[in-house]
Amino acid sequence: MIINKFRAFLANQLGFPKGWFGKLLIRFLNRNNAVMNNLALQNLNLQAGDRVLEIGFGGGYLIEQIANTHLPQIIVGAEQSQDAIEICKQKFRTQINKSEIELHLADATELPFTDRAFDKICTVNTIYFWADLSKVFTECHRVLTENGKLLISYNSKDFLSKQKFAEHGFIGYEVAEIEASLKLAGFINVTTITGNSDRHQEFFCTSATAHLGN
Ligand SMILES: C[S@@+](CC[C@H](N)C(=O)[O-])C[C@H]1O[C@@H](n2cnc3c(N)ncnc32)[C@H](O)[C@@H]1O
Repeated sequence: MIINKFRAFLANQLGFPKGWFGKLLIRFLNRNNAVMNNLALQNLNLQAGDRVLEIGFGGGYLIEQIANTHLPQIIVGAEQSQDAIEICKQKFRTQINKSEIELHLADATELPFTDRAFDKICTVNTIYFWADLSKVFTECHRVLTENGKLLISYNSKDFLSKQKFAEHGFIGYEVAEIEASLKLAGFINVTTITGNSDRHQEFFCTSATAHLGN
């Protein structure tokens, strides 16, 4: 009973870290999710001058790895948790002052950016909290340039149900569901690779290219 209550609380915090527990959790996530974020970075195919958006950056681990490549012109983060923003504002204050990093309080379903503002978008361990994938993917498509790349890294549905998070609001998606939803939103070249780690077992990295049509 107590374990179940804690699991529900944890699931809620993972989706929207808040308060002192959320701040601790954000720091833990940086270590816990490093392997998934590293695979995302490897497959983002960053180029010099890229404008990069990360949605749901949590503790900022991936933003830091991207910044360390010194390739992008700018890295923008969109995150719904004010506490995550505050932590990352401190962490990246030097780059923020130099306008190399921007952090926005924003929801993935309503990105506060102009059309075609980014060359790359990445998001890791976030889709479980999105009941309407098509809304988010349509927004991503809108803010990507023609041939811009979206990369999503996520745990398997099977792993989420073994962890019992599915009972507390996490949505586990099959790879085929993600791929179909991306194609419906207008993406092409949709491909998925599989990663492995002791913590996450099998996980996935799906990438897709924005195609604006005729
Ligand atoms: C489980 S954490 C993952 C953090 C980081 N990406 C990682 O892999 O460690 C999920 C993060 O996504 C954010 N998030 C979830 N839904 C969001 C939404 N609709 N818009 C913006 N951020 C969202 C949460 O606030 C949280 O910081």
